[in-house]
Order: sequence, then C-alpha cells, then structure tokens
Amino acid sequence: MTVQSIDGPARPVTVLGLGRMGTALAGALLAAGHPTTVWNRDPARVAAPVARGAVAADTVGDAILASPLVLVTVTDYRAVHEVLGASAASLTGRTVVNLATGTPEEVRAVAERVAAAGADYLDGAMMALPQTVATPEAFFLYSGSRHAFDAHRTTLDVLATSHFLDRDPAVAELWDLALLGSGYAVLAGFLHSLALLHTAQVPPTAFVPLVTRWLHGMLAFMPELAEEVEFRSYGAGVSPVALNRVAVGNLVRTSTLRGVDAEVHAPLRALLDRRTADGHGTDSFASLFELLKPVRSG
Ligand SMILES: NC(=O)c1ccc[n+]([C@@H]2O[C@H](COP(=O)([O-])OP(=O)(O)OC[C@H]3O[C@@H](n4cnc5c(N)ncnc54)[C@H](OP(=O)(O)O)[C@@H]3O)[C@@H](O)[C@H]2O)c1
Repeated sequence: MTVQSIDGPARPVTVLGLGRMGTALAGALLAAGHPTTVWNRDPARVAAPVARGAVAADTVGDAILASPLVLVTVTDYRAVHEVLGASAASLTGRTVVNLATGTPEEVRAVAERVAAAGADYLDGAMMALPQTVATPEAFFLYSGSRHAFDAHRTTLDVLATSHFLDRDPAVAELWDLALLGSGYAVLAGFLHSLALLHTAQVPPTAFVPLVTRWLHGMLAFMPELAEEVEFRSYGAGVSPVALNRVAVGNLVRTSTLRGVDAEVHAPLRALLDRRTADGHGTDSFASLFELLKPVRSG
C-alpha cells in the first residue's frame, strides 16, 4: 500500500518526558523547525526546551492534543502506563511512539492500550546517547504500525536514522535487547582486560589502540559466524571449539592466578567445556549457538 506522507518539515510533535533523552529529542525537533510541545512530570524540566522555542503543556492530555505525533520518553513501561493512562481520551487519532526501554512482553500491554484508545502505535528503541541524537551515529528501531511509520518517517528521521523492523510492536524491543547483549559482552570483556593488564601496571588508555584494532578484526568475523549459524554448518569453521576452550581456559586461569575476577569469561568456558564433552570439539566456535538456543527450537 502506498501511503501519502502526512508529514512535513514543520509538522507538530509532542514530547512526553524531558529526561536526558526527551530533552535531546525536543532539541533536535526544535532545531529542525518542528513546532514542539513538551510535558514533564517535574515542570522544572520544561524550562530548557521552552527557552529554545517549545510550548509547555500543563497536562499530558493538552500535550497529546497539540500534535498528531506523540513521542514518549520516560524511564520505563510503568511510567508509560502512568502517563498514557491519565489521558487515554486525548489519544484518539494520534500516533504514539513509545521510546522507553522495556521488554517485548511489556510492549504488548501498551500497544493494546493505545489501540483501544483509537491511536496508532509504534514502539521504538533508541540506539543512541543524548549527545548523539540527530547525528549520523544515532539509529532508532521501530516496530508496530507500518502506516504510522511511513506517515511520520520524515519527522522520525530528524532524530536518528530510522529502521522499521516489523508490524509486531514487540520486535523493536527484542532487537534492542539483542544489540545491548552484544554490546555489553564486548564492554564487559574490555573491562576485564583492563583489570588483567592492571596487574602489569598497564594504563587503560595504552590498551585502547590495539584493542580497537583487534575488535575491528573480530567484527569482520561476524558475517562468517552468522552464516554458519544460519545454515547450521559448523564443519568448515577456522576456529574450532577445542582451540577456543584452551584459549579461554588460559584466560580464566591467568586471571585467577593474578587475583583478577574471571566471572565475565567463566560462562563462556563452561559452554566450551559442554560442547567439547558433547563430542563437538572440532566444530567451529559458532556451534555454541546450539547450546544457547531454546531447547525446543529447530
Ligand atoms: N540516556 C540514554 O543514554 C538512553 C539511551 C537510549 C535509550 N534510553 C531510554 O530512554 C528512556 C529515557 O531515558 P533518559 O535517560 O531520558 O531518562 P532520565 O533522564 O532518567 O529521565 C526519565 C524521565 O522519565 C520521567 N518519568 C519517570 N517516571 C515517571 C512517571 N512515573 N511518570 C511520569 N514521568 C516519569 C522523568 O520525569 P521527572 O523529570 O518528573 O522525574 C523524566 O522525564 C529510558 O527508557 C532509557 O532506557 C536512554
């Protein structure tokens, strides 16, 4: 279906919640010339966007009525329910973009509540920091109403590069968690490395040039791992489980001997041990996926 864009460079937008992200989003919208209405539970926080040209609404309901597009940027889904619950009547005909971080299960209840109020619902995940909003580094994930996404895409693109994932509203949160999971694993490993090097008085900043170079190579390895998992083809991989088991074992042992907490890597060692014990030591590293996926899935 071709959707006629109802959006334009000066389309009004409402931002509910002016914490670090909400303030950054409102700032980006104002900078792009969008008439922007803001509301925050603590009214003191509206001062900054108002100084830049935003209109402060006294109530959530007034804020929602001010714009066809309503962005919700509060702490969590409990707060989302509190904010939207107080103003369900004003939602009719609007598009609600819920940018709070939550779980796929939490999304469904909000999506149903918004639909019941006669509004379109988009769930969003902000892969950005306040300072990267409206820069090329920022990208936001969306799922839910495709019609709403197409209609408001021009406005959403002001905030970050927009990616629509699926009509199921819960999908954006699942991808958000998947991206966070990969990111946290890398950063936790990095902090462990700093602790290990600390035992030899290596300053953390001295490690950065080589670790970023090394990780660049690791990232380039991801498409190969992904293909092996996708086709369940673990025979030709260049990095077998047994080899990695020795390397991770060395890492854990050396850490422990030096008094460094090896907790970050212990679960990986356990997976490599299990895979080897199951007789898959010659399979590639990617085959650990077989231990991680849900037991009943194919
Ligand atoms: N900061 C980041 O780097 C970042 C990056 C990506 C995604 N996110 C996500 O974006 C969302 C907002 O994050 P943030 O960093 O902007 O948070 P924040 O600075 O802590 O601000 C939280 C906002 O939520 C509001 N709020 C909390 N509970 C509320 C309630 N019960 N009713 C009404 N308003 C309530 C606060 O209002 P008051 O001012 O009245 O307390 C404030 O406006 C979170 O889900 C976060 O996970 C954050």
